Amino acid sequence: MRIDVVTIFPNIVDSYIQESIIKRAILDEKVEINVINLRHYSDLKHNQIDDTVYGGGAGMLLMFPPFYRVLKERSTAKSKVILPSPKGKTLTQKKVRELAKLEHIIILCGHYEGIDHRINYFVDEEISVGDYILTGGELAALVLVDSITRLLEGVITLESHLDESFETGLLEHPQYTKPRSFANYDVPDVLLSGHHENISKWRRFMALKETLKKRPDLLKKAKLSEEDKQLLQLIKEQKDE
Ligand SMILES: C[S@@+](CC[C@H](N)C(=O)[O-])C[C@H]1O[C@@H](n2cnc3c(N)ncnc32)[C@H](O)[C@@H]1O
Repeated sequence: MRIDVVTIFPNIVDSYIQESIIKRAILDEKVEINVINLRHYSDLKHNQIDDTVYGGGAGMLLMFPPFYRVLKERSTAKSKVILPSPKGKTLTQKKVRELAKLEHIIILCGHYEGIDHRINYFVDEEISVGDYILTGGELAALVLVDSITRLLEGVITLESHLDESFETGLLEHPQYTKPRSFANYDVPDVLLSGHHENISKWRRFMALKETLKKRPDLLKKAKLSEEDKQLLQLIKEQKDE
């Protein structure tokens, strides 16, 4: 998997990908991430890449030609060009899984007022990271880079994915680490029992409970067994008591 991030602030992207799991994934050659400075593709004085908006209005817009040149140089038939944008469909784990199967992704980061609309002739997909406005596409691009990279084979263990929120259709069960007791706050006994079946049952119960409390909308789509449905009923009754 190759990901190109086109940005006017390469340091923002560089600083994130040079840490932790993403850094290791790059070193292990699970992913190649190229941070491309849009200014290098300007043919104007002082590497200008933005200008005022035609028709009037506040703020600056990133120009079309530098992006065009980047795409001419880097895009192939196998590339998917993504534009992070509040106008796009909101990113989901399902979409991340889909993107993680691709060979080459090019992410075009807007800034200020965004990018000249003509870029849309070259964009395969607009993706939003939520219904709010960021100052630039860099954080959204990093959300994509991070969520995609951690799904690539060998980046993190398969087991780590299995129970994660959204993967099972439910939110993940609560997790604890040492110390088992601190300031009278204790780890649930069942997790210390070594009884795998009971631990597994407790985790399913708690995943259902978390989902019902925090994201009840997910339960409509989740695959629930008869036992799950009974547990949900029990949780609802406990809540009513
Ligand atoms: C200030 S925003 C531009 C917003 C644009 N004028 C509008 O109203 O739709 C600058 C850039 O940040 C990025 N951005 C802002 N909010 C985003 C979001 N929710 N999801 C993804 N990218 C976003 C996009 O790259 C956008 O071009």
